[in-house]
Amino acid sequence: MVGNLSGRPLVLGVSGSPRVSSNTHLLLERVVAGAALAGAETKVVRLRDLKYSSCRHCGGCDGTGECVVQDDMQEVYRKLREARHLVLASPIHFSAVSGEMKAMIDRAQCCWIGKYRLKQPVSQVSGERRGVFAASCGGKDTRVFEWAKHTVKAFLNSTGFRYWGEFFEANADGSPPVPEREERLTEAEELGRRLVAG
Ligand SMILES: Cc1cc2nc3c(=O)[nH]c(=O)nc-3n(C[C@H](O)[C@H](O)[C@H](O)COP(=O)(O)O)c2cc1C
Repeated sequence: MVGNLSGRPLVLGVSGSPRVSSNTHLLLERVVAGAALAGAETKVVRLRDLKYSSCRHCGGCDGTGECVVQDDMQEVYRKLREARHLVLASPIHFSAVSGEMKAMIDRAQCCWIGKYRLKQPVSQVSGERRGVFAASCGGKDTRVFEWAKHTVKAFLNSTGFRYWGEFFEANADGSPPVPEREERLTEAEELGRRLVAG
């Protein structure tokens, strides 16, 4: 199936924290809530709930651009193709995205093969497809976001999204806790609204 039945643009959120009470998941929820207010259909995937492996570099996608590993990533591939816009949310772990997020990103090797080697279209969704990176870190050194950004950009390029926006929350383990930073959460929602509306 191509596109979504509602006719509204689909905003896909992918949440990469291993924690249930996650700072970045909260940021993601607010970005996605803003997108919904602006008229998008939304879907959020929590990687901690999925069963999938990292890329095996088996070469199974070399001739087709399709991953041969049959696990929960197959549904993620479908959603990535259907999405008009994508919001990736990850905590910073050792100056990078989380292991959950990196494993998913590595599984986009088949998308890279499809787009750059086999010259296949990445999606049949028309119009500009925008990508947002939302992240939080415990410390105050915001360079970690820039370091993680390189990986996220490479993933967005391979899956057919333009790096359009970002939302970074530093000192997330400090006070007040992220759920009480209403002003920042409202800004996250506003980003989601702009993602869809203009
Ligand atoms: C394994 C691990 C590594 C981390 N590495 C960093 C780091 O390099 N820099 C930093 O500022 N915070 C680091 N943190 C703190 C998290 O980024 C921070 O608590 C974040 O808000 C967690 O987001 P979450 O609640 O969405 O999982 C680390 C936390 C863990 C568990």
